[in-house]
Parts: sequence; structure tokens; C-alpha cells
Amino acid sequence: MHFTVRRAEIADVPVLRALRIEALSNEPEAFGSTLEREVNRTEENWRRWIAPNVTFLLEADGKPRGMVAGVQENEDASTVDLIAMWVHPEARGTGAAALLVAAVRKWAGTIGASQVRLKVTEKNLRARRCYERCGLRLTGRQFVREKDGAIELEMACNV
Ligand SMILES: CC(C)(COP(=O)(O)OP(=O)(O)OC[C@H]1O[C@@H](n2cnc3c(N)ncnc32)[C@H](O)[C@@H]1OP(=O)(O)O)[C@@H](O)C(=O)NCCC(=O)NCCS
Repeated sequence: MHFTVRRAEIADVPVLRALRIEALSNEPEAFGSTLEREVNRTEENWRRWIAPNVTFLLEADGKPRGMVAGVQENEDASTVDLIAMWVHPEARGTGAAALLVAAVRKWAGTIGASQVRLKVTEKNLRARRCYERCGLRLTGRQFVREKDGAIELEMACNV
């Protein structure tokens, strides 16, 4: 498989929506959102994922096979939150996930942020290991997720 990562554009809204629905249908426990919320997002809301926020699409041989988004925090512009990370099962274990993390990290640098931060559920060992290999470290902060009470751990890295 040949992987490319590119920044999503407005014309990619249907692709982004389809990937989010696939992710939330297959692995709802990995995310703070719900399938219902993703299905009901408006076009305007999807457009915000693309600008002013950022979404990167992973393509394998030209087919959409994953995504990640970055959001600059309102109250702390030096921090970018990495969210909505998902790689299609077919593309896992290939190193493609690291390309997505690197894309957000690089984007964070271009907008002047100094830190990338994320939340991952304590039980999501695969994602935790993947982030660790990409250079993120546990910060020691943890949160109780609103939708189901799952424990989420914060991880972060410098840009
Ligand atoms: C999280 C995700 C993007 C990672 O992508 P991936 O291709 O699976 O990640 P990688 O294979 O590159 O890295 C996973 C690491 O965890 C390891 N691993 C796999 N299963 C594991 C398990 N059950 N327990 C611990 N480690 C595990 C792998 O060996 C690998 O580590 P290594 O490179 O040191 O060998 C992908 O698994 C995914 O989309 N999962 C569902 C959605 C999700 O959890 N998103 C994250 C939300 S915070």
C-alpha cells in the first residue's frame, strides 16, 4: 500500500463525514463523540474542521483510509489539540498512523503553537503505544469522559 497524507479541503467534507461515521460505527469507545452527533453535524460545522481547524486525510493507493484533526485552543494559543485520530483496520500496523500525528505536529508549528496535546482512554493500549512511539508522553492529568465515565489520560509533546 502506498500512503499519502494531505490536508482536507472544503470539497472533502463528504469524505471527512464518511470517515467519521465509519470510525464512530466501528470503534465508538475510542472517541468522546457519538455516532448520532457525527451523523447530525451541519455542513457549516464540517467546514470548521477544515478551516480554521485542520484535518488531514490518510489515503492508501488513493482511497481514504484514515484521518486526524487539529484544533488550536481558544484560551491557550500555544496548544493544539489532536483529535479524531482513526486509521482503517486495513492500514493499521503500517506506520501510517505516525504520518498523521506528524502532520498535526508540523501544522502546529506553522501556526506558532509549541505543544500538541490529546486525550486517550486508559484502556486504549494500542493508541497509547502508537502516540508514545510518536513522542507523546503522559502528562499525569486525567479526566472522566462525559459520555460514559471512561478514564481519559492526557498525553502531550513539544512541537
Ligand atoms: C489508534 C490508531 C490510529 C493507531 O494506529 P495503528 O496503525 O493501529 O498504530 P501502530 O500499529 O502504528 O502502533 C500501535 C502500537 O501498539 C502496539 N499494540 C497493538 N496492539 C496492542 C495492544 N493490544 N496493547 C498494547 N500495544 C498494542 C503495536 O505493536 C504498536 O507498537 P509498536 O510500534 O511499538 O510495535 C488505530 O489503531 C485506530 O484507528 N484505532 C481505533 C481508533 C482509536 O483508538 N483512535 C484513537 C483515539 S485517542
